Amino acid sequence: MVRKLVAAVSIAVLSAVLAAGPAFAAPGGIGPPTPETPSGEAISRLYWIVLGLCAIVFVLVETALIVFIVRFRHRRDTPEDAEGPQIHGNTRLEIIWTAIPAIILAALAIFTFTQIPAVQAQGVSDEERLTVRVEAHQFYWEYRYPSGAVTVNTLYLPVDEPVELRLTGMDVIHSWWVPSLTGKMDAIPGRINTLRFVPQATGDFEGVCAELCGVQHAFMPTTVTVLDRDEYESTLAAQQQPLALGQATWEGACATCHGLEGQGDVGPAIAGNGTLTNPEGLRDLLLTGQNTPQFDYYMPPVGRGWPQKQFDALSAYIESNEALSTAPATTTTGGGG
Ligand code: CUA
Repeated sequence: MVRKLVAAVSIAVLSAVLAAGPAFAAPGGIGPPTPETPSGEAISRLYWIVLGLCAIVFVLVETALIVFIVRFRHRRDTPEDAEGPQIHGNTRLEIIWTAIPAIILAALAIFTFTQIPAVQAQGVSDEERLTVRVEAHQFYWEYRYPSGAVTVNTLYLPVDEPVELRLTGMDVIHSWWVPSLTGKMDAIPGRINTLRFVPQATGDFEGVCAELCGVQHAFMPTTVTVLDRDEYESTLAAQQQPLALGQATWEGACATCHGLEGQGDVGPAIAGNGTLTNPEGLRDLLLTGQNTPQFDYYMPPVGRGWPQKQFDALSAYIESNEALSTAPATTTTGGGG
């Protein structure tokens, strides 16, 4: 019996280790990436404790399963129609196997609640937080700062300062997820969701859109660039220069579907298109999008919510970029949508 038990436990542990190998070898392993905020640390802590408890339960249950399969299997010397012992309940055993999971779940719930203040970076007054509005679009992120600054796809933050993101969706539901900073949060049209955290290290932190939002969902990344206060101010100011803002807007809002050179991708080729160089017409198109039966493609209203300076910056950038503003030299028309 003891030998069988040892064999069963060995098989269960070996299987768990074999299964864990590829999981740990995957990019980033099976755990969250290295946390760079107290919120991320709390999420990581919670993750590893839940995983550890589940792993213990998994090994115990699988061991019992293997032991019972081996021990109570059909043997050659027992007749086919032999009946097992007739058992009518075991109150003590049933109380035990109900109480133990209940205690484990209660402990997990209590521990989870103790981590919430850390995850939400509580304990800071609203005035102390830098509040950035995050507007999720098909298929880019627009960041609006209290100073009126705007950035596209890259969020600039000062290190060691509490931040509050106020997320909303401008067309469909998206989800903002930069796992080394904090948990993910949906950006939903018509409502504001908040995310609070304190970045503790400078550097670039990568994130993605984590809610299927349309054809270019997989190409909707974001970067959070955390800088020292001075560098943050100067970089953000530099990004407000019309050509810089225009370029970021072109690359985020236009190129994701139309290609970096306007050569066409999931959206039609638009390099040299008359609307591109007509600021008024371009603004109208960006605000209303394109959703008519004559065209077999749908264009989201990507300019919804932009300040006028962003339309101006985009037009200035297109004007400055010959590949975009002049019609292609070849007589062949670019591919359609
Ligand atoms: Cu936006 Cu997926």
